[in-house]
Amino acid sequence: MHYEVVVQALWLILPAYAANGCAVLVGGGLPIDFGKKWKDGRRILGDGKTWRGLFFGSLLGTIVGFSQAVAAKYLTENGLNIIGLDYFEGFPLMIPIVISIGMGALLGDIVESFFKRRIGKKRGEDWVLFDQLDFIVGALCLVFITSTFLHFLGFLPYNWFIKNFTPWHILVVLIVTPALHITANMTHKRFRQKSF
Ligand code: CTP
Ligand code: MG
Repeated sequence: MHYEVVVQALWLILPAYAANGCAVLVGGGLPIDFGKKWKDGRRILGDGKTWRGLFFGSLLGTIVGFSQAVAAKYLTENGLNIIGLDYFEGFPLMIPIVISIGMGALLGDIVESFFKRRIGKKRGEDWVLFDQLDFIVGALCLVFITSTFLHFLGFLPYNWFIKNFTPWHILVVLIVTPALHITANMTHKRFRQKSF
């Protein structure tokens, strides 16, 4: 595998990392489920899924993705895009594509919490690989759906997702993310222990 694939894969998924990371940093306040319980007596989602995390996570994911689109377009136009960084189709199609990656990440995390509560795991309890990959799977699924719509509605002559996310790119993202996630969590926990 060429190293470009690794860089391209991380580039494509960066809006999802930004969205997820931002939600973790600024999250808190009113829970998305408004504190309500499901039929099983447990919370629908739990206190770890908040409106503030969803809102600011979506916002940062979008800002990061738009910035990447501008940067990659600039590199391409000046013959400097040697790694082949994608610019999310530029304006205006980058809008649905980038938003789908960031929002998909947060929705994936929300869906994961829903199932985590249903199997009886408490907020913050570990659910290995599900905790680490929820936002990646969410981002990939939503941007695949959006790309399919853009293709079939005639906005693009190809499927953006299939063109950019080869099985190798998906593999890279699925392997690198849990490693990064675990490292970031450990740093975060240590930082919290020190400051409080
Ligand atoms: N967060 C948030 N809103 C979101 C997503 C995340 O506020 N939509 C914040 C919460 O403060 C949450 C933290 O990010 O505690 C970490 O997210 P995650 O690890 O997914 O949540 P957990 O607290 O572990 O809860 P769960 O068991 O539901 O995954
Ligand atoms: Mg989660």
